[in-house]
Amino acid sequence: MATKLSVNINKIATLRNSRGGNNPDVLKAAIDCQLFGADGITVHPRPDERHIRYSDVRDIKPFITTEFNIEGNPTEDKFVQLVLEVKPEQVTLVPDALGQLTSDHGWDTIKQAGYLRDIIGVFKKQGIRVSIFVDPIEDMVAAAADTGTDRIELYTESYAKHYTANKNAAIESYIKAANVAAQKKLGLNAGHDLDLNNLKYFANSIPGLLEVSIGHALISDALYYGLENTIQLYKRQISD
Ligand code: PXP
Repeated sequence: MATKLSVNINKIATLRNSRGGNNPDVLKAAIDCQLFGADGITVHPRPDERHIRYSDVRDIKPFITTEFNIEGNPTEDKFVQLVLEVKPEQVTLVPDALGQLTSDHGWDTIKQAGYLRDIIGVFKKQGIRVSIFVDPIEDMVAAAADTGTDRIELYTESYAKHYTANKNAAIESYIKAANVAAQKKLGLNAGHDLDLNNLKYFANSIPGLLEVSIGHALISDALYYGLENTIQLYKRQISD
């Protein structure tokens, strides 16, 4: 089965917010990404709404014809309420701190097991698939299985950072983590800093990769290649 591409449209909202109007139109971008071949749309609302706004998430949902993935930190009640109201296909739980530039670590699935089990249960009860953001550490992946999550999203920043110098070394911990996920019957997603250079090797090396969510590099590439071409270029990297 081919890996799905979920396009993270936060950067389009960031551009819009920089001028205060509605250009670029985030809702139109979500609709167009799907028309151009995206298998899903990802949004990551943060409490300060500096990127995507809570109202964007509500506005976009009725226009999703693919899969809607909402990322965020469930320690914020506002986030939990939003997800339960909007009912996306998937929620990805991320332990990012308030005001953090971008997500930079996964959950400690051992220390935070009890908390995760409870909050994952809240979403699953409403029929929402849950994925949790995890570093490529075998023990963390193994413990994730005990939280009841459906999937994990491997944090790929370290892979991307080391890819150019030594791609074999860069992928090693991810292959081990993916093997543990498969043994534990956890679905596998991945994201952060994936781009046109490093995506193909990652997708080819990681068996059973269900979905990648990509924002920063894809939206940046769209400045040069256009959004439709760019989405097609990314899809080509992950097709069988
Ligand atoms: N996954 C998670 C949990 C994220 O927080 C982000 C960034 O918001 C991404 C994936 C996408 O990362 P990038 O923008 O580098 O493609």
